[in-house]
Amino acid sequence: MSTDIATRPTAARGTVRTLRQSEELSLLRDHLLRLDPDSRHDRFHGFMDDSFIERYAAKCADDGTVVIAYIEDGVVRGAAELHPPDRSPDSQPEIAFSVESTVRRQGVGSILFKKLIAEARSKGYRSLRITTGAQNQAMRALANKFGANLKFRHGESTGTINLEPLAPPQAAMTAIATPADAARAMINVNRAYWKMMLRMYGWNRAA
Ligand SMILES: CC(C)(COP(=O)(O)OP(=O)(O)OC[C@H]1O[C@@H](n2cnc3c(N)ncnc32)[C@H](O)[C@@H]1OP(=O)(O)O)[C@@H](O)C(=O)NCCC(=O)NCCS
Repeated sequence: MSTDIATRPTAARGTVRTLRQSEELSLLRDHLLRLDPDSRHDRFHGFMDDSFIERYAAKCADDGTVVIAYIEDGVVRGAAELHPPDRSPDSQPEIAFSVESTVRRQGVGSILFKKLIAEARSKGYRSLRITTGAQNQAMRALANKFGANLKFRHGESTGTINLEPLAPPQAAMTAIATPADAARAMINVNRAYWKMMLRMYGWNRAA
């Protein structure tokens, strides 16, 4: 379980880590219940009452949702949710974000997004989907920052984030040669070998 300090000029001072399934997901519920009405509206696309949020958090606790949390003094102030692909109609994992207003615009959403992408890559996911209100400037800015291609439809914007496999390290790159590269390398080795042989026998003194 990794822990990072979220640092920025305005210095969010908390830590970021994945919540333990079931045992810790009440921390997610309490965070979501603390969101102010506008934020709840933005986060849940209009569904706002407490009982909805309680049922939602309970579902996350046992359906395999990964929750990466921003925590200050033991209290979750921000969360990134990675929902399992089998919960979505086209098997594309859904993601969602929420940051309490007291810690916004300090890079918390960005660090949660970064962690969530790393987690999704580690699970082998190739793409992620995010849905947000068309008027939600903050979420659109955050999603754009991480390469989401947002499309507008019926007052909502939906975006896909493609998770291309990371480029292999340089050593591996050199090992992966095309057939032409391999042939060229072989010719160079042969040339060097024959040069050495000719030199040994003194046949290339004139060269
Ligand atoms: C969207 C949200 C998660 C952003 O969290 P945050 O911690 O403030 O995000 P960051 O500080 O990392 O900012 C990310 C980027 O968005 C930009 N941004 C943030 N709020 C913005 C706003 N209100 N208007 C325009 N841009 C905004 C920031 O400038 C930053 O860009 P930069 O790094 O180039 O400066 C937060 O506003 C939120 O929880 N909103 C309510 C819930 C919600 O709408 N969820 C989305 C549904 S999935």
